[in-house]
Amino acid sequence: MFQNDLKKAIEEVLHGRPVALPTETVYGLAARIDNPEAIKAIFKLKERPFFDPLIVHVRSIEQAQSLVSWWPPEAQKLAESFWPGPLTLVLPKAAHVDSMITSGLDTVALRWPRQELFQKVLDEVKIPLAAPSANKFGRTSPTEAHHVKDEFKDDPVFVLDGGPCEIGIESTVVKIFPSENETELALLRKGSITESQIKNTLNNFSVRFVDSVSAKDSPGHMKHHYMPAIPLIICLKRKDLKQLAQEIYRKISLLPPIVEQVKMIPLTREPQQILELKLSEDPRLATREFYGQLRKLAKSGGECIVYFKETQADPAPWEALYDRMAKAASLILND
Ligand code: TXA
Ligand code: MG
Repeated sequence: MFQNDLKKAIEEVLHGRPVALPTETVYGLAARIDNPEAIKAIFKLKERPFFDPLIVHVRSIEQAQSLVSWWPPEAQKLAESFWPGPLTLVLPKAAHVDSMITSGLDTVALRWPRQELFQKVLDEVKIPLAAPSANKFGRTSPTEAHHVKDEFKDDPVFVLDGGPCEIGIESTVVKIFPSENETELALLRKGSITESQIKNTLNNFSVRFVDSVSAKDSPGHMKHHYMPAIPLIICLKRKDLKQLAQEIYRKISLLPPIVEQVKMIPLTREPQQILELKLSEDPRLATREFYGQLRKLAKSGGECIVYFKETQADPAPWEALYDRMAKAASLILND
């Protein structure tokens, strides 16, 4: 049964049909990079705008090198330190990489995932796979096979079930680019591999970390992303849920319907049933369960979700989770 599913996933990919595959971060919707129709089908299934480029998944450092026009020692060091794993490197692309994958940018995002089933598909297909997270554009990323099935229930997408994802949020994305005297790096997306881990790894290199890159360099970094089907509200102060209803309704009603191409979720009345999101006190477990909890609560009949965010003694391991949470939220209430 299990072997058959793996075989079916491989066949689908070989025939140019997008397939949902598990990775250690979140489920991805994968297609071979040498088939433009398959790549187009990913954008269509996800309802993703063509300005937001895809990550290309490889099965070795050599394969990554074949897709870039520049592979500096810093890329080699990061790849050797964190691959296979939840790190995506953005580098100047090789001319043959389809510009639909890179949204016309001159860079390509590369990742060697460590999830075993994904690696088996890569081994059989022998061609790198473009794979964004397997959710509709702007929505919560899937961390279990049934999340993907829910997301694409009207579409014929085969889902290879690899169980729950180990990490639960998307990979760290680091851009590496040449400048006059030294290599520059920019953290485009936070993830379980932290900025300080990356800096420590490159301790002996002469690199410069630049803080912000332009929106053009970092497409897909909209204000709102990963949103559940009902509004999520982050509260920095604990309050009575009933007291919050009026404030939430008033403030949600003031939001525009669409922000940076992402549809906001309306409330049609003052919420009668507010659900509280509760996460583990262990940041790794909290990160693993976050997206799944959002989906579960959104399906449970409530009208909105509230998370009471506390100040953490050691904020570093919470950073990536809180980054996603802020984007998934329709509102953040400071007082
Ligand atoms: O963990 C992950 O990275 C998952 C799994 C499936 O591997 N994939 C994932 O893909 O999160 P996606 O498409 O949901 O997010 C990819 C992000 C987007 O924000 C996109 O804008 C950025 O990577 N990206 C891709 N190519 C880029 C490039 N050439 N330059 C800058 N950003 C890029
Ligand atoms: Mg995504």
